[in-house]
Amino acid sequence: MQQKTIGVLTSGGDAPGMNAAVRAVVRTAIKKGMKVIGIKRGYNGLINGDMVELNVRSVSDIIQRGGTILYTARCLEFKTQEGVMKAKQTCEKAGIDGVVVIGGDGSFRGAADLSAAGVPCIGIPGTIDNDISCTDYTIGFDTAMNTAMEMVDKLRDTAQSHDRCSVVEVMGRRAGYIALHTGIACGASYIIVPEIKFDMNDMIRQINMARSLGKQHFIILVAEGIGNADQLARDIENITGIESRATILGHVQRGGSPTVRDRVKASQLGYHAVELLERGIGNRVVGFKHSEVVDYDIAEGLAMTKPFNEKLYGMACEISF
Ligand code: ADP
Ligand code: F6P
Repeated sequence: MQQKTIGVLTSGGDAPGMNAAVRAVVRTAIKKGMKVIGIKRGYNGLINGDMVELNVRSVSDIIQRGGTILYTARCLEFKTQEGVMKAKQTCEKAGIDGVVVIGGDGSFRGAADLSAAGVPCIGIPGTIDNDISCTDYTIGFDTAMNTAMEMVDKLRDTAQSHDRCSVVEVMGRRAGYIALHTGIACGASYIIVPEIKFDMNDMIRQINMARSLGKQHFIILVAEGIGNADQLARDIENITGIESRATILGHVQRGGSPTVRDRVKASQLGYHAVELLERGIGNRVVGFKHSEVVDYDIAEGLAMTKPFNEKLYGMACEISF
């Protein structure tokens, strides 16, 4: 039987743990007798043939590294039919029988298009935002939250020393998962997420009530999907008289060595993705449901909805001061 060749690429925003997924894909495929091609800078590499063969040693010493050794990019051309056709031709020329795509929702839409064009693809959820509906967990989420937690802990020191209110904006695109979990972990006084309607009056009431009970410094966690941390800090200062400062954590949340959770989950997903391609199965996205590895048809996976954990949000409110 002819040796199978698979490609692997990372696409969209990088996330800590992507390298662990690449490593798992490469090692699993080689153990199964396949050849592996690393495709550089997301779908760009497939369009312009920027690729390199990977062996077991190519992925040594990367499991602990943030970022992605394959580089990543957003590739507008791939959103066009011509772009997808160019990618298909590259795969045909290089003898690539299937591609593992590590990225977010957008990258999976591309993977579905390429699968439909005849190149079976498997999507692995890699994004710090945890905003992919068909999986309970996305690679990078835990590391990003831990980074944010460390930063907020530092901000608390200075907020406490000055009796200030620290308004901290975290990433998450349109989702509030990083804000919710980091807010709980840091004992935030108030958490503002896109999924729960924000009521400024309620927040001010809570701050004033906490102050009347002796609380002197405040941490407000705001998801970037709500945004405008600067204005919020100004409003809080104007209304309550509490000196306030805004901090936007930004891309620091995307870097750093992945946590145990991210490395293990990435390894499990990488392994499963290759198992599917080995069985000739494509157009699937892999993920976790109740800690088990699962996979779905990409379109079905993209159409799913993930309810925000309002109970957890409610708990956070109850124990906030
Ligand atoms: P993420 O994968 O993190 O959601 P993007 O939405 O930026 O990030 O998508 C990453 C890349 O996936 C895009 O630059 C493009 O190459 C590809 N992509 C996104 N949306 C589509 C689409 N609708 N059709 C085909 N390819 C897409
Ligand atoms: O999807 C990951 C993410 O970091 C989001 O949290 C954020 O909105 C976005 O990417 C930032 O993208 P860029 O790297 O293009 O600034």
